[in-house]
Amino acid sequence: MSEPQTVAPNDHEPPRRLHINVLRFNPREAGTEPRVQTYEIEEAHGMTLFLALSEIREKQDPSLQFDFVCRAGICGSCAMVINGRPGLACRTLTTQFGSEITLAPLPVFELIGDLSVNTGKWMRAMSERLETWVHMNEAGVDLHKMEERMDPALAEEVYELDRCIECGCCVGACGTLRMRPGFVGAVGLNKIARFRLDPRDNRSDDDYYELVGDDEGVFGCMSLVGCQDVCPKNLPLATQIAFLRRKMLANGLKR
Ligand code: SF4
Ligand code: F3S
Ligand code: FES
Repeated sequence: MSEPQTVAPNDHEPPRRLHINVLRFNPREAGTEPRVQTYEIEEAHGMTLFLALSEIREKQDPSLQFDFVCRAGICGSCAMVINGRPGLACRTLTTQFGSEITLAPLPVFELIGDLSVNTGKWMRAMSERLETWVHMNEAGVDLHKMEERMDPALAEEVYELDRCIECGCCVGACGTLRMRPGFVGAVGLNKIARFRLDPRDNRSDDDYYELVGDDEGVFGCMSLVGCQDVCPKNLPLATQIAFLRRKMLANGLKR
């Protein structure tokens, strides 16, 4: 996927008129078909797509559906397809594009309406399936006992992978997920890589092999790398998947 180019703002020119094309569809409105609706707005200095959509909703069309919470690239709820590439609306400046911008909801996830999709439902199902929590070494947790110190370099590695905000951009960019709906995606495999690193987690490589050593896990990934290209947190997703695949291959051969 090619990187969007930034159009340098020129203070001497009048503000641009933007044409924002939005793929609209409300699955709960019987008898309606998906359609593209174009809104025209004046570009403001420092305008993000989130601000553009908010202005449209406020001044032109209160029925337009899209999600946001933090407006700061933290909650992951404003992900959508922007000129063919998944990204966060709140972190994308309109100056990155020409005057025509086309927005669509992320594919794969259940559509709520217009640009709003139910990433939470998909992420929850993936998390439950992969049991994305620390499986403690001890039967119970003694709150009076100090947790064992983790090597700072290792803690840093775990933290790096923990930066995922579950925005779903990697899911929307992955061709495998269009063909294989059960694939856990780069987000799921990143979580497995994270828990595998964590010394507090008592799962063995055999346990991880049971979870993702198949075509819906590491062996389903076709190394398309779109996930890593679009991740707003710049997580090394393809690298982690390749590492897991090598480990799982070695584990599979031992069986
Ligand atoms: Fe979003 Fe990156 Fe997490 Fe995928 S891995 S859900 S793109 S933050
Ligand atoms: Fe999909 Fe990323 Fe693999 S885009 S095919 S998960 S490398
Ligand atoms: Fe939270 Fe965009 S609104 S990431």
